[in-house]
Amino acid sequence: MDKDGQFEVSNFKNALGKYYFRKVGPSSLEFKIATIISKIPHPNIVNFFVINSISLDMEILDTEFQISNEAKALKLITDMKNARNHLLSNGIVYIDWKLDNIGWSEEEQVFKLFDFDVSGIYDIKTSRWINEPEKYFAYNLAVKNNITDPIGIDSFNFNKMVDELLMEF
Ligand SMILES: Nc1ncnc2c1ncn2[C@@H]1O[C@H](COP(=O)(O)OP(=O)(O)OP(=O)(O)O)[C@@H](O)[C@H]1O
Ligand SMILES: [Mg+2]
Repeated sequence: MDKDGQFEVSNFKNALGKYYFRKVGPSSLEFKIATIISKIPHPNIVNFFVINSISLDMEILDTEFQISNEAKALKLITDMKNARNHLLSNGIVYIDWKLDNIGWSEEEQVFKLFDFDVSGIYDIKTSRWINEPEKYFAYNLAVKNNITDPIGIDSFNFNKMVDELLMEF
């Protein structure tokens, strides 16, 4: 459990025989998005086991991974592009793109996205918000750059993450 008592890695297995990571106290929007995602699983998005308004139980990922070469960076970018396309085509705008919110699955040899705390839901037909997320750092950074539409805000932060990652090599 973290200092706020909000996160917990279980020492025991769930009904599926797997250890899990429990995030306690999701916002109502994060709970709603996790519920949608659990119905449309994707190899590059964290797998949710049990979801309710009090806590989200999900697979445990390695969050200490190192991006030691360009090939690994490109793998992360490709995996996240796939996650992003899947989310957008299902009406979910991620926004908070950063390495802190990505984990490595040793079992599946893929990167996976987690933390839908500041993500939103948009209307695929009109590209307008249905559930606009709270405006935190990533959202506000796009707005400061005169980008205000949901997909634009998402692209801005995704591209920023990619640029920062590739700058290392
Ligand atoms: N599935 C997971 N497996 C392993 N660790 C995880 C998992 N989900 C989250 N964590 C760890 O918990 C931290 C916080 O989780 P998360 O990113 O969902 O919340 P947050 O809203 O960003 O909280 P904070 O603002 O405290 O970072 C992550 O940075 C990561 O280290
Ligand atoms: Mg986070």
